[in-house]
This record gives sequence, structure tokens and C-alpha cells, in this order.
Amino acid sequence: MIWASGWKLASAVSNAGGLGIIGSGSMYPDVLREHIRKCKAAANFPFAVNIPLLYSDIDKHISIVIEEEVKIVFTSAGNPKTWTTILKEKGITVVHVISSSRFARKAEEAGCDAVVAEGFEAGGHNGREETTTMVLIPAVVNAVTIPVVAAGGIATGRQMLAAMVMGAEAVQMGSRFVASGEASSHINFKNAVIHATEGDTILSMKQLTPVRLIKNKFYQEVLEAEQRGASVEELRSLLGRARAKKGMFEGDMDNGELEIGQISASLDSILPAGEIVKKVWQEFSEALQNPVKKI
Ligand SMILES: Cc1cc2nc3c(=O)[nH]c(=O)nc-3n(C[C@H](O)[C@H](O)[C@H](O)COP(=O)(O)O)c2cc1C
Repeated sequence: MIWASGWKLASAVSNAGGLGIIGSGSMYPDVLREHIRKCKAAANFPFAVNIPLLYSDIDKHISIVIEEEVKIVFTSAGNPKTWTTILKEKGITVVHVISSSRFARKAEEAGCDAVVAEGFEAGGHNGREETTTMVLIPAVVNAVTIPVVAAGGIATGRQMLAAMVMGAEAVQMGSRFVASGEASSHINFKNAVIHATEGDTILSMKQLTPVRLIKNKFYQEVLEAEQRGASVEELRSLLGRARAKKGMFEGDMDNGELEIGQISASLDSILPAGEIVKKVWQEFSEALQNPVKKI
């Protein structure tokens, strides 16, 4: 996750038994290399790197994960055809993030080892079709033969079990880990996340790259621009590259872009990442014992 998942969060998750992922989308190439090296030193178990395929430094990021011998790469926001073969030739496991069965099939055709099927509820960039996790998971499980990782609206072990009942073999959690001690996000953002209530997030900027964010002043400006028919160029300049950094990393809750999922409405605490992993496992085991218990 941009502006959240550096080496501290990734290594804490991996050391607790999950698979921590470094979010390279907000990192310059030398910063990415530094995070990979620090993560290697801190993590006793495998970790992964996410590379959004649309970013300008993509070729440099790909070279770095190869040079640094990263074992697992999650690609997103782009066509998996271009880079999957190159990564696979180096023995790297490639998992691609998709939001529809059609894109899942393309990822399988491109040679990906698994897909993350990310529903409409999810924080960050998202599909245009607005397919919810509940609908997307079984559809993608039917569409491909490779393993499916469910994402979007999952923050508890009970939700993890629900995803697995629908055929997912793993889950990817984003928002839950933004509200963790190790996330590099600004404390103002973490506090906004745990105070968010139902309806506080929305899928915005569908004309550019759809993204789920908190409805703040920046969002209202985008909405007004869209309603008066602003051009894509105008929207792009309103967004700028620095808005996400301003909000999530520098803590400007009015003028920054605050990416988070619907599940933020259920979060009420900032916890150590390792404790989150432990709690999820505990909830999962309890739910498995008694799946239809009223809670
Ligand atoms: C702050 C934030 C930043 C994110 N950045 C990325 C990213 O750079 N690349 C990516 O593939 N997904 C990104 N995501 C999506 C997450 O990896 C994950 O799939 C999503 O958060 C799952 O849904 P959830 O938020 O309901 O848990 C981001 C999510 C959040 C909340």
C-alpha cells in the first residue's frame, strides 16, 4: 500500500505468520532498494513487493526486485502481459491484482501464479464495474484454475473464513493494516480511518483511475469539478501526484487524498501488525469451530 507499507509493516506481518508486502508505488527506485534490504534484515520469513504497472519507474522497480532477489511480486494496475514472463524467468512468483473475471483470465493467460480478486469495497485503486467481493470471488474462482486471493472488505478471521467458503485460498487485507503501529501512514490518517463510519468512503475519480477514498474537502473539490464537466486534464491537474502523499503521509486531512476501504467503518483501534495477524488467526479458528454462531 502506497504511503503505508514500508519494510516495518511488511516485516512485522511476515514475522507474525502472514505475507508482508512492500508497496513500491510511492517509492523512488533507491528508496525501494533500501526498503527491500531493511525488510530482508528484519524478516525471518518471505515477504513480497507490490509493483503497480502503470508507474513511470516501472522498469527500474522490476530491475531492483530481480537484483535484490525478491521471491514474490504482486503486480497491479496494468497489463500483466508485459512483465510476468520476465519476472517468471527469474524464478519469481507473480500474483496479479484484478477486479473482474475477464482480467483474471488475462492474468492466467499471462502466466501469473495466482490472482488477487479485489472487490468494490476495497481501499485504494479499484475496478470500474463496482463488483463487490461477495460477487467477485465465486465468479473469479470459476473463471480461472490458479489460486484466488480475496481482497476488499476483509479485516477479521470470520471474514477470512467467509472468503474461503467462497473458494478463495488466501486473503489480502489493506485497510486493517493501515490502522497498525508499523504502517508509515501519518497518525492523522490512521485516526481518521478508525473514526470513519459507514458511508464515509466512496469510489471516486472514475474518469481517471477509480479510487476509494474518504469524503473530505479534496473529494468535494473533485466532485464539483466532475459535476461541472471538467476535462480529464483538469481532473488530472487537480489530483496531481502529491495529493496522496499530502493526505496519507503528511497528514493533511482536508487537502490530501485519503485512500481507504469501506471496512474502515468497522475498525476502532490502531494495533501492532503482529497482533492483528494473531487476532485474525484466533477469530478464524473460532469461526471454523462454530461458523454460524451469532456474534
Ligand atoms: C492506503 C492504501 C493504499 C493502497 N495502495 C495499493 C498499491 O499501491 N497497490 C495495490 O496493488 N493495492 C493497493 N491498495 C489496495 C490493497 O493492497 C488491498 O488490496 C485493499 O486495501 C484490500 O481491501 P481492504 O482495504 O478492504 O482491506 C491500497 C489500499 C490502501 C487502503
